[in-house]
Amino acid sequence: MATVKNWQIGREMAYPYPETRPQRQFAAVFDLNKCIGCQTCTMACKTTWTVGKGQEYMQWNNVECKPYGGYPMGWDVRLLEKLGPQPWEGSRFAGKTIFEAAPTGERVLGFTPEELDWSYSNAGEDEAAGTLDKGAYETMPEHKLWFFYLPRICNHCTYPACLAACPRQAIYKRPEDGIVVVDQSRCRGYRECVKACPYEKVLYNPVLRISQKCIGCYPAVEQGIQPRCVTTCIGKIRLMGFLSKPEEAKADRPMDFLVHLRKVALPLYPQFGLEPNVYYIPPVSVRREFLRQLFGPGVDHAIETYLKGKDDPELLGMLHLFGDTKEIIESFRTFPASGEAAGYDKKGREIVRVPVKEPDYLRPFYDAARQVYRHNIS
Ligand code: SF4
Ligand code: F3S
Repeated sequence: MATVKNWQIGREMAYPYPETRPQRQFAAVFDLNKCIGCQTCTMACKTTWTVGKGQEYMQWNNVECKPYGGYPMGWDVRLLEKLGPQPWEGSRFAGKTIFEAAPTGERVLGFTPEELDWSYSNAGEDEAAGTLDKGAYETMPEHKLWFFYLPRICNHCTYPACLAACPRQAIYKRPEDGIVVVDQSRCRGYRECVKACPYEKVLYNPVLRISQKCIGCYPAVEQGIQPRCVTTCIGKIRLMGFLSKPEEAKADRPMDFLVHLRKVALPLYPQFGLEPNVYYIPPVSVRREFLRQLFGPGVDHAIETYLKGKDDPELLGMLHLFGDTKEIIESFRTFPASGEAAGYDKKGREIVRVPVKEPDYLRPFYDAARQVYRHNIS
């Protein structure tokens, strides 16, 4: 085992291979306050990549409903239970990662889901946690009754457990963008990767007898286009880009700005130790304890910053650029004077410009021209 630096857990950790970071790291931010669970992303991915034989059950992108959903069933609670207590000391994780907790003779602590676990992709959907007394009502920010949608793809981890576990070295991280792929000609179907990925994002194809996974839509990314799940999202909750190391973060890079500077987007289960590269803006009305287990100790700061976003022109501008262009936004700028935000491509060309504040139209209660009354609409 080598010793590598994992900034998400605030310390060094053991990993089977030495630290090698790609030239650029694929990353994405998903705003959970905006996801409506419509599954457009799931279908866009499904119809693009997993229409073949043996892929029927595969959802490289899935959207599950927390706290009771999960695809495969119980993927996270089962591993959390195996891992035991996961204490944080401030921003430093004081427990064991899944590499450090690996059983003797294995590289990763994991489990293999069974066929039945893959049979109910929408189990637990729209089932709320908590109770609301008769006559009571919800107050902000934390609701008593809550659920939220959690869209998931492969995290194209900095320290992938799938890659660490494969005895054939059939999985690799592309040096140019950090996207994690299975070399299908090397794979022999050992399925150690399926067992090792704590996010259960490597899927075995029983017809081809090899494993397959989200490829980050690299043919699009290579042309400066964001992945399908991002560009088709009707809730405009997603943005894909490239993330620098914390010490190299630049304020005009969307991912760096959201993850490293405003710290409004957080990794999923950072305590597993993979440095996953899909980041989530936590849902503001959900029980904090639950969110801290999912996204680590940064939750309170992230929610506070997000809620103050209306007074933060840069953050507001950045959030308005989600879902507004297919092209990868390499850098952005806000224009407080004109109330606009703009995104630029690799060559610095403007590819999108949006108003940050839209005008309000107050329409009269009684519309004399149409001789109608308007009720509760704006
Ligand atoms: Fe591998 Fe799973 Fe990480 Fe994707 S999420 S890179 S499949 S360990
Ligand atoms: Fe390796 Fe997984 Fe294939 S462990 S051989 S990539 S099934």
